Amino acid sequence: MKSRKTFRRSMAVLMAVLALTLPLCMGAQAFTTAPPKSVHFRADGTFKVLHICDTQDNQYPRPAMILFLDRLIEQEDPDFIIFGGDQTYDTAHWSFSTKKALDWQIAPLLKHDVPFDAVLGNHDSPSLFSVFRDITWGNYNDYTNSLTDDPAWWLHGSGTHNTPVYSADGSQVLYNFWLIDGGDYDYFATIWSNIFGGNSSVYDYVHDDQIEWIKTRDRYLTDQNEGVPVPSMAVQHMIAPDIYEYLVEAPADAEDDYRWFDGKKYLAQFKDDAVYTGLLQETPCPPDHPNGEVAALSEIGVKAILTGHDHVNNFITNIKGVDFLQTGSVGYNAYGNDNVRGCRVIELNTADLSTYTTRTVLYSDILTDPADIAMWQYGKTEEAEAITEEAYKATKGVKTDRLNAMLDKMYELLAAAAGV
Ligand SMILES: [Fe+2]
Repeated sequence: MKSRKTFRRSMAVLMAVLALTLPLCMGAQAFTTAPPKSVHFRADGTFKVLHICDTQDNQYPRPAMILFLDRLIEQEDPDFIIFGGDQTYDTAHWSFSTKKALDWQIAPLLKHDVPFDAVLGNHDSPSLFSVFRDITWGNYNDYTNSLTDDPAWWLHGSGTHNTPVYSADGSQVLYNFWLIDGGDYDYFATIWSNIFGGNSSVYDYVHDDQIEWIKTRDRYLTDQNEGVPVPSMAVQHMIAPDIYEYLVEAPADAEDDYRWFDGKKYLAQFKDDAVYTGLLQETPCPPDHPNGEVAALSEIGVKAILTGHDHVNNFITNIKGVDFLQTGSVGYNAYGNDNVRGCRVIELNTADLSTYTTRTVLYSDILTDPADIAMWQYGKTEEAEAITEEAYKATKGVKTDRLNAMLDKMYELLAAAAGV
């Protein structure tokens, strides 16, 4: 009896040791040989990423956005898609409806077999219940084409991780994406500023433990790459507060069209000596907390920080040696503007990974066929939401490939409603 107990105890200890060490071994292996679920440069040395921000819709999204994503992937043929945060909104906060909202957004990616990654935004956790952010993040792992991860779960936020891009043969990591969770709100500061004056929403920020983790991980990647730093970009939902170094202060007595930052009022206007391209149509809404993140990312050689959150901005500038790439929102459920609504394309080439090319793709660039234009215009209306709900319900009994069946049904209903 006693020996059986001892045997069981020994097995339990062995299993515990295996459970603790196996992921470490597998993690170490992941950077020397590409794991089955990974992204790769093409044989011709190219790699194309789509940065898609603020889909921000609920369990029955506006069909125009789903149509755009589908046609966009068809036209651009990307190797990788990164969702830039605020994938959900309001009623989609709770886990079951978040999953439905994601099902719709990821259906076009599954249809075209494109792997994806993501960061969360301030709208992606139930208000005042940030503890459920981890549950929300867990939904992303359910998809076969997902590269989302949470290797350092003890850090602030949910799902800060990195995704390496391998050579075509999978033998070497050539590039790296940092996916950083900047959290949602600083609730105490928000309440304080609403009472005593300041920003109506004070956002959470990238914390020191996350920055330290990135530095450590970067050293590991460099070691694995025979001492040569791996070029990288970072993706997070909110722009870094450093952007305010480039903005014009508003007159102290300004009554509207300004935003508070660090106790001063600012305008949606770049200073005369700021170098930028693209549109700045609203004052950026970063966290107010200066955290040295940009300087730290610059130090490890990060080329660019990709952000969304400010729906009507799509400018590019450079601060502290790091490019700031802002992408306009893609969704029709939240505020936006068709002059920036769409996505950002990033193209890399192994011939020179110290640089990259980028451009934006708007709805009007993709939906050019008269039938598609009619479906887009109808699909962005409030009434059109009922179409996704109907398509969802009509395909409830479908056992295999439900997401594709949902898309087909949505197109059928959308075409009929748009008179196509
Ligand atoms: Fe946001």
